[in-house]
Amino acid sequence: SKSELEEIYNFALDLGRRAGQILIEGVDKRTGEASGRGDNVEVEKVNAVDIVTQTDLDVEAFVKDEITKKYPSHSFIGEETYSSGSSKEYLIKDDPTWCVDPLDGTVNYTHLFPMFCVSIALVLNGMPVVGVIYQPMLDTTYSAYTGGGAWQDDSHPLKPRRPLPYITNPTSPLPPNAPSGCIFACEWGKDRRGDTPTSALSKKVTSFLNLASELNSRDGKGGMAHGIRSLGSATLDLAYVATGAFDIWWEGGCWEWDVAAGICILREAGGLVTTANPPADWETCRVPEVVLGGRLYLAIRPAGGGKGESGREG
Ligand code: IPD
Repeated sequence: SKSELEEIYNFALDLGRRAGQILIEGVDKRTGEASGRGDNVEVEKVNAVDIVTQTDLDVEAFVKDEITKKYPSHSFIGEETYSSGSSKEYLIKDDPTWCVDPLDGTVNYTHLFPMFCVSIALVLNGMPVVGVIYQPMLDTTYSAYTGGGAWQDDSHPLKPRRPLPYITNPTSPLPPNAPSGCIFACEWGKDRRGDTPTSALSKKVTSFLNLASELNSRDGKGGMAHGIRSLGSATLDLAYVATGAFDIWWEGGCWEWDVAAGICILREAGGLVTTANPPADWETCRVPEVVLGGRLYLAIRPAGGGKGESGREG
């Protein structure tokens, strides 16, 4: 029920902030050490950019413990729990499941770039119904629960503020709903297999930059992409789409814990999440299909026509 969800939401909000303090303690410790960045890296998982820090493990243990104490019947999946091999067979199930990334933006964290966060979601019947993102270095939360609206710092409602600026030039070769004047965001992921000049990463970078430059020139006014961003945290990307700061975000290699909380927040704010590859599928951006469990995500900011109405006054 709504009141049960609200209670879980308040628990998750408090938990996210407490977990964020552990991240800050890790930062304080590291900045005090002479060796500087990178010394908190414990293990490289699949490759040199797929890393885990002791702090990842500490925060996940803390969050899991608190959730298990409070909701012993709920299931739990966390990025590090999965990596340790204990739940390799995991698929999002229908029963209440907490989906947690203790530290999204691990590379940022080890480089002391402040775009990292704790990301906590409750998933029910495959849908994220509670989402909390806490960004400790900016002391900012983004949060939502189904029917309760989406919020920054639990006090400022996130909702559609302005329409997406669509191409109106009738001679434009782009479909009529192609967005212009946007900040595009994307992530490069961690897959470095065959890391040569023609590797997956290089291809992704090249194709995304080609896309942006092609869209700019097809617009005829150079106004399609106002900017291109890559923050290094998929969850925070989704939060910034929810606030309207980013217009479009795309990534092709996410895991559930990278996106579950962000999807809940974005949908409650009135934005859309779907699977689509730019630029061929712009049309499908309008289909609000949630795809938790897939690897490919395309998010569009709240632009009117969605829910966007909060369940309470801001
Ligand atoms: C990663 C970040 C990154 C994205 C990767 C994620 P992590 O999560 O969100 O931006 O490109 O796909 O796995 O490892 O920092 O928790």
